Amino acid sequence: MKQLVLGGVFALLSGHAAAQAQVNIICSVQAEWCNLMSTVYSRTTGTKVNMTAKGSGEALAQLNAEKANPKTDIWFGGTGDPHLQAAEQGLTLEYKSEQIAQLHPWAQKQAADSKYRTVGVYLGPLGFGFNKELLAKKKAAEPKSWADLLKPEFKGEVQMANPASSGTAYTMIATLVQLMGEDKAFDYMKKLHPNISTYTRSGTAPVKAAARGETTVSISFVHDVTTEAVTGFPVGSATPSEGTGAEIGSMSIVKGGPNTEAAKKFYEWALTPGGQQFGLAAKQFQLPSNTKVPKDPRMTDPAKIKLIDYDYAKYGASAERRRLIAKWEKEVQNQGR
Ligand code: F6P
Repeated sequence: MKQLVLGGVFALLSGHAAAQAQVNIICSVQAEWCNLMSTVYSRTTGTKVNMTAKGSGEALAQLNAEKANPKTDIWFGGTGDPHLQAAEQGLTLEYKSEQIAQLHPWAQKQAADSKYRTVGVYLGPLGFGFNKELLAKKKAAEPKSWADLLKPEFKGEVQMANPASSGTAYTMIATLVQLMGEDKAFDYMKKLHPNISTYTRSGTAPVKAAARGETTVSISFVHDVTTEAVTGFPVGSATPSEGTGAEIGSMSIVKGGPNTEAAKKFYEWALTPGGQQFGLAAKQFQLPSNTKVPKDPRMTDPAKIKLIDYDYAKYGASAERRRLIAKWEKEVQNQGR
């Protein structure tokens, strides 16, 4: 009898353990935001969240590598271009969220462009970060334009990321190509090359280096500069006067992932105002895609800067993204100094 009761309890316990939902997420925003979302979501829903951090380009590479046997359920955040590429490659699941009508038109367009295989979760313009103390020491003016970055006083003093791993850096290439035309954009990047001290793996590394005084200027999303500034580092930001592009940070459900039902639940939650409040709570200043999330005055208002009409569908297409990155590696990264 005792054995039977114990056996029953054991069966109940193991049954409970087996029933615990879980979701495997690749997270391409900053760790503070990933961790906060993961903690809140698992505490409020009882779902186990397995979170891995990866830059946008690296996340896409991982989904490709797992294609035959996906281990990931959700890819949260990261620039929209590689999410569109994943959609085109059939790596992500078609799914139309119940929240879609509440999202800004740019987030809805991102979903429609991908045939509902991704969706916009935030928007953020590209610009520069700079260390004000280092600029003052050099008696150099704050850079305000793409042209300013070519100045001789910034030789070896600018950092940007590598577009193969970083969505931030790919956004810069696509922005310059749209702004200047391809030939002039590549001429510009070749001229900029001597001023770049290093091409980092992650898109946020350059502004963190500027914050610590290791480089004077970074090419960064403006919201990432704000994060360093509110943390107390002596950094300022600018959006280039000639015009700039913006990312539509996106989220996708992996096709054939191990926990698709749990993935859909997380996806819905991440698009609600309740789910979207955790960016700001983690000191992240992208513009949330749900129109019902209160704006913070420290977020850049896209209407107040010179934004180009970025062609997300064109620059998120696999062939175009691969071609531009390969061309950058050959003509810019591999040239001597
Ligand atoms: O989390 C900060 C952030 O700039 C996001 O806004 C963006 O989508 C992501 O990082 C890009 O990171 P990476 O350039 O490393 O792909």
